[in-house]
Amino acid sequence: MDKIKLLIVDDSELTLTKIGSYLSDPKVEIYTSNSGKEALEDIQKNDFSLFIIDVHMKDIDGYQLATKIKNIEKETSTPIIFITAQAIDKAKKFKGYDIGCIDYISKSDDLAILKNKVGHFVQLAINQKKLINLNSELEESNKKLNDFVAIVAHDLRNPLGAILGYVTILSQIRQEHWDKKEEKILNQLNMLCELSLTLVKDILEIGALGSGKLEINKKIENLKEIIDESIENVKFFAQKKSIDLVNNDPKNISLKVDKIRIVQVITNLLNNAIKFTPKGGKVEVIIEEDNTSGGVNVEVKDNGTGIHKEILKSLFDKEVTTSTKGTDGEKGTGFGLPLCQDLIKAHQSEIFVETNKDKGSRFFFKLRN
Ligand SMILES: Nc1ncnc2c1ncn2[C@@H]1O[C@H](COP(=O)(O)OP(=O)(O)OP(=O)(O)O)[C@@H](O)[C@H]1O
Ligand SMILES: [Mg+2]
Repeated sequence: MDKIKLLIVDDSELTLTKIGSYLSDPKVEIYTSNSGKEALEDIQKNDFSLFIIDVHMKDIDGYQLATKIKNIEKETSTPIIFITAQAIDKAKKFKGYDIGCIDYISKSDDLAILKNKVGHFVQLAINQKKLINLNSELEESNKKLNDFVAIVAHDLRNPLGAILGYVTILSQIRQEHWDKKEEKILNQLNMLCELSLTLVKDILEIGALGSGKLEINKKIENLKEIIDESIENVKFFAQKKSIDLVNNDPKNISLKVDKIRIVQVITNLLNNAIKFTPKGGKVEVIIEEDNTSGGVNVEVKDNGTGIHKEILKSLFDKEVTTSTKGTDGEKGTGFGLPLCQDLIKAHQSEIFVETNKDKGSRFFFKLRN
């Protein structure tokens, strides 16, 4: 690993040599400057992990130099230790602390104190460098893993689609001859294939969104068509559970959105609402124009189970599995809501949720032109 760089600034050559040789360490590369001006030039060329600065210097004093360093660095906060030959009063000391100095050490003190403190900072800087290296290694392997997952998901999509096709054909062949047990197995196979296919598609889309590869194609679209299409997608499931699917019929509202993606979001929210609402319940899509701030509020509301408190804060987090079974034992992957959030973020907005145990949930977001 590269050596840790340390800069000592003092207008006395004698002090520079004395402290420099005292602090010499195989892990450390010591730089010295005998003026604030020279120090500022060195700072532009090197990445220092610690500054040791004399308070009283002729050109720029220690406080002025420290202020300039902090202005140059802005984000990094390299520690500064002030050294001084004279006693410093409390007010001046606090002036230094305010600028970002972490300690004052008297030149008349035993230099062992300085060496000891410097040793701690050098160790901290070494640990920080190790962390930075480790972090970039992790990022690299994370990227490789994501690429691998994307390739596997992509290659699984076709055989899964084919299996689903064959299962559908099989269930249609001589339908009347299947006994109850065989029919149940076929239904189960069908459901598992659909679930696997959804999972694979979700993984692909989440990966594409994360890497910026998924294109969002915004065009002026009619909101009514978007809602109608989304409702069409889930009608079958609502009928199966005798759920009343209500659409408050948005007027002729046009919006600049990616229609496919917004249909996908509303379909996902409707699927969830149906999944977590018991038979005979009610699921609504509510559209309201927001005349004060502009745009349109879209809401999917149900009177179902409500959302468990423990998963509420992680609903949109891809890293946390939140999936639970629906009221009819429907299974899911837990990718639906994180994907919705990503797609809505790609429309410069955000999804919100409100829920009440046993009373239902409402998911809502705003679309702007
Ligand atoms: N309307 C809702 N009512 C109650 N719980 C909900 C509702 N929407 C989401 N949830 C809870 O949030 C979890 C995560 O939802 P999400 O859509 O991300 O995944 P999923 O529905 O489990 O799987 P997938 O959408 O991939 O099929 C659900 O499993 C459920 O526990
Ligand atoms: Mg879902």
